[in-house]
Amino acid sequence: MYKLIIGITISLLFFSCFSPEKNVMVEQELTYCARQVKKSFPFLADSTKLPRNIKAESKNWDCTSIYDWTSGFWPGILWYVYEYTQDNAIRRQAERFTSALFPVANRRAEHHDLGFMVFCSLGNGYRLTQNALYRDILLRTADSLATLYNPTVGTICSWPGMRKKMQWPHNTIIDNMINLELLFWASKNGGGKHLYQIAERHAEVTMRNQFRDDYSTCHVVVYDTITGQRISQVTHQGYNNTSMWARGQAWAIYGFTMCYRETRNPAFLATAERAADIYLAKLPADYIPYWDFNAPDIPHAPRDASAAAIVASGLLELCQVTTRSKATRYKKAALKMLASLSSSYYQSREQNNAFLLHSTGHYPNQSEVDRSIIYADYYYIEALMRLKKLNGE
Ligand code: GLY
Repeated sequence: MYKLIIGITISLLFFSCFSPEKNVMVEQELTYCARQVKKSFPFLADSTKLPRNIKAESKNWDCTSIYDWTSGFWPGILWYVYEYTQDNAIRRQAERFTSALFPVANRRAEHHDLGFMVFCSLGNGYRLTQNALYRDILLRTADSLATLYNPTVGTICSWPGMRKKMQWPHNTIIDNMINLELLFWASKNGGGKHLYQIAERHAEVTMRNQFRDDYSTCHVVVYDTITGQRISQVTHQGYNNTSMWARGQAWAIYGFTMCYRETRNPAFLATAERAADIYLAKLPADYIPYWDFNAPDIPHAPRDASAAAIVASGLLELCQVTTRSKATRYKKAALKMLASLSSSYYQSREQNNAFLLHSTGHYPNQSEVDRSIIYADYYYIEALMRLKKLNGE
């Protein structure tokens, strides 16, 4: 009897520590995020150098230029921390790093990532402050992004530089879905109807061409600029042309959910759900994906915490717009993801100044493999804020 009680106690302890189903302590995790960002300020004197990743042996962020695709995530994180804490010292830091990004609006668009860069930063800043200067810069950047749109194909060209380098006449990557949010926002805020139409058409064409029959996505679609037709489905950051790259699938889930919010087109909702369903069906037990679902060395392949954070945030929106039975399933899954991400294995805590460990940026290039990466932190805090609002707190 005594042994039985000890056995049950040990099992309960084990599952309360390691089960991904344990509750997410939203306030506790948001307070943790606020604490972590404050640790970085002494190392970030130059506001034009923005945190991107942390080396395995380091505690502090390695920084990048304002023109890098990841530049908007740090200011975006600061806006979320300000929204949560209402701390004016954090707001001043958010404003400082946000204003460093203003020159992005003055450059000719060289890639599709303008939405990531300005909407996570200035978009959140405008949402919280209604600063007219932010609005102006967002509108100008939306116009700049729209110059990459090809009406024959019906999508924005993600990487114009790949026309020559890879002989891809017009390429669109699944990540591009996220940049559409800037266009939808701009069309509602004085930027003109054509921006909405570009975003909507981009999503429709992507829906037809980027998915396979099972609703996994390919990373890149190459299009013919004369006929507008798809030439091929290939990968750049995934394992191979037929694999399911975890973060690509995350962008699809998050992006089509956002497009449904903006358009109410039921096909976008169905696409988001199908993309989520195959992703959820193939997850490992802790709900954090390997960097690619078809990586040959699973279970030894690196994880991608960033994909988990993006999907958790996306599902917390998806669960608010779908049927009740699906909503329960999606919310439960999002909670499991956040619980895992908030565990001692995935949180950075004293190891470094990020929120999270174990993200993978570009495995085929062997860059940012099993690292703290800024966008994982951005979507983690966004998901926590979404959960807080969903819980009515
Ligand atoms: N948008 C680039 C990436 O997800 O790595």
